[in-house]
Amino acid sequence: MAADAEQGEGVKVVPRMKLGSQGLEVSAQGLGCMGMSAFYGPPKPDADMITLIHHAVHSGVTFLDTSDIYGPHTNEILLAKALKGGVKERVELATKFGITFVDGKIEVRGEPAHVRASCEASLKRLHLDCIHLYYQHCVDTRLPIEVTMGELKKLVEEGKIKYIGLSEASASTIRRAHAVHPISAVQLEWSLWSRDVEEHVIPTCRELGIGIVAYSPLGRGFLSSGPKLVENFSNDDYRKYLPRFQAENLEHNKKLYEKIVEIAEKKGCSPSQLALAWVHHQGNDVCPIPGTTKIENLNQNMGALSVKLTPKDMAELGEIGSGDSVKGDRYSPGTRTWKNSDTPPLSTWKDV
Ligand code: ATR
Repeated sequence: MAADAEQGEGVKVVPRMKLGSQGLEVSAQGLGCMGMSAFYGPPKPDADMITLIHHAVHSGVTFLDTSDIYGPHTNEILLAKALKGGVKERVELATKFGITFVDGKIEVRGEPAHVRASCEASLKRLHLDCIHLYYQHCVDTRLPIEVTMGELKKLVEEGKIKYIGLSEASASTIRRAHAVHPISAVQLEWSLWSRDVEEHVIPTCRELGIGIVAYSPLGRGFLSSGPKLVENFSNDDYRKYLPRFQAENLEHNKKLYEKIVEIAEKKGCSPSQLALAWVHHQGNDVCPIPGTTKIENLNQNMGALSVKLTPKDMAELGEIGSGDSVKGDRYSPGTRTWKNSDTPPLSTWKDV
């Protein structure tokens, strides 16, 4: 069913694209590495994941996405192993700071000392002299964004990071941050079933010339596999607790998946390829970073780059995930997202 690309043969060369206006260039599709080590069930064997990462890089998927909180730390350590032996020179490595676990609870931290300490720790774990793209994973709303950005700017000046990114940031936070130092990429959840960024966040990125990195473009696997995905969640799979995967919402959300399957069949591609092609067709400033732990899925996902969608296809797909077609929020209540990422004005800030 997966056209062209079941084994990646449909894509001879993964195109390259610019992210932002500061010179960052990445593969037009990236690889989300989180699920290799954390959140989506038990960590996968290092050796298999290193083989997968090498296969991705060899195939032209060179934009690798991690964070210090994945594990914590183990995903960065895995990447360090995978990047040995000349691989690091061939990749664009993005990592993130700002979410920490303290006594089992999540703390969001963006104060300058934490920014610096996190960066230095990631550099050490990754065995890098410079991080290509360093994101604030989640905005710390206790302090003005300008204060966090001031430290990131210093890290750029010192050559410890090359480009700055934000994740889950509102339009106004992005605008304020960008005024301190140009932001090269904003990472946000954007997929057929997560559309809330389209009204303000995406247009702001475009106005400011900021690259858009779409995470969870496969709806954490739901857009690829539908409700059967949930049956295979292990107890430590974090998706088990997300609203959209709860039984009361799943029955409703199943209809969206069925429509994806129907359209994918017509297009001669797999549901994953259709979901990714929809993101790729949003513009040449958008880079999806599907996560996978399997070579065959990576190959299939690369095949999305050769799926052509007409304006009619895009309109039809645009319809299926809009309005009340999806039941359940993206995250559990109380989670920090772009919607509650506004920070106090700089004028109120007294550094102590
Ligand atoms: P995230 O960004 O959070 O990783 P995602 O990219 O939307 O989320 O989806 C990741 C999920 O999709 C993973 O469960 C992955 O499972 P595997 O590790 O088993 O691949 C699944 N996935 C990725 N590509 C897939 C494909 N081509 N077919 C089926 N499932 C796929």
